[in-house]
Amino acid sequence: MAIFLTGSSGYLGSYLAAGLLREHSEQLSLLVRAKTEQEARERLWQSLQLHFDFPEFIEYANSRVRIFRGDLTAERFGLSDDEYRVLVDTTGSIVHCAASLNRKSERQCLNVNLRGSLEVIQLARRAQNRNGLRRYSHVSTVAVAGKRQDEIVKEDAAIDWSRSDYDPYARTKKFCEHMVHQLLPDVPHTIFRPAIVLGDSNRPETSQFDMVQAFDFLARLPVLPLRSHDRIDIVPANYVSKAIVAIHQKDAPAHGIYHLSSGENSQTYRELTDALAQAGGWRRPAYLPASSGAFSGLVNFLSNRYGGVAHGASLLKVFWPYLIWNTVFDNSRVVSELGEAPARFSTYGYPLLMFSRKNKFRYPAKPWPVGSAGNKPVRKMAEGVGA
Ligand SMILES: NC(=O)c1ccc[n+]([C@@H]2O[C@H](COP(=O)([O-])OP(=O)(O)OC[C@H]3O[C@@H](n4cnc5c(N)ncnc54)[C@H](OP(=O)(O)O)[C@@H]3O)[C@@H](O)[C@H]2O)c1
Repeated sequence: MAIFLTGSSGYLGSYLAAGLLREHSEQLSLLVRAKTEQEARERLWQSLQLHFDFPEFIEYANSRVRIFRGDLTAERFGLSDDEYRVLVDTTGSIVHCAASLNRKSERQCLNVNLRGSLEVIQLARRAQNRNGLRRYSHVSTVAVAGKRQDEIVKEDAAIDWSRSDYDPYARTKKFCEHMVHQLLPDVPHTIFRPAIVLGDSNRPETSQFDMVQAFDFLARLPVLPLRSHDRIDIVPANYVSKAIVAIHQKDAPAHGIYHLSSGENSQTYRELTDALAQAGGWRRPAYLPASSGAFSGLVNFLSNRYGGVAHGASLLKVFWPYLIWNTVFDNSRVVSELGEAPARFSTYGYPLLMFSRKNKFRYPAKPWPVGSAGNKPVRKMAEGVGA
């Protein structure tokens, strides 16, 4: 039986696909948005080259991966009856990672996060009725905790329906968790809530730049409109992925919900800027929290201009509520389950920033190697069904 994984063409999903392929032996069924089979393969290569060279990628792709070309927002993912039947018949467990992270678009969040998750849950129900589902793992976010200030939040206290949310993303992700609990009571399910996922503690490369660019904007300012002693909960993608893969594959994880975060070990802005200044040999910024009103005016002004600074400013505007909430997410469950804590951002933030600046906040993706053996249509991958 296969693991059905959504979001493998995205940042975290690529880590999950790579972890499941490298460390486990089950087949993977991947939902990929693409018009043709070759486009689906090329989109996967774009995301998975962060983890594999081409020969290793194509070897896994041909032997362990089945692509289902579909969209979360279409009924039964837009698959044909035959394809959908094969998907139900072969799904032994599910990791639902795909989502819209577009905090500005209520429409996208509603469609992808709510309608899309409902489609995945319906698949889970059908697979449960057909052969039984070993586990449903749902990638959520700590943003489901809603508006907070100066708190340490534990897993079971995060959802509080009387609180407001910062944006449509947080609101829809909160309701997704609710759907999982309500609609899959008889299926073993696990909710994973990553904090701010930023970089990889083992290497400088990343393929996701939004938050890095917001940080870059801040890192260039001589005066920061923040409280230097506020903590920010950042966790590297490799830790998040290691936790999801390991816990999804366990027979009986100890808990139903895990914060994938740095928790009480989260660092303060002062610690982060000191580490960056030391590594980069530049001046430490001053902190002037009282200037935050004027700062948001400046950010608004800049975000309406053009170019890299405007983009950094508009990203900062979107993430701002999460930068000033001084709230961290207790991670004792995942630390005890994995036997290790995540690396601290100060130990890997500088190489991440340098990689991102050098590449102008774009991943230098290698194209599909034309003429390679992997270019031939391969039955399992290319057909989506059968095999
Ligand atoms: N990154 C963070 O800091 C962070 C923090 C907390 C939680 N999370 C959670 O982690 C998960 C993954 O986030 P990420 O950072 O990896 O995001 P990402 O890089 O934007 O990836 C999103 C994935 O979802 C897929 N997707 C979006 N709409 C779809 C649709 N209609 N049909 C099928 N697939 C669709 C995308 O496919 P395409 O490639 O086709 O667009 C992509 O593979 C999300 O559930 C997010 O809420 C992330």
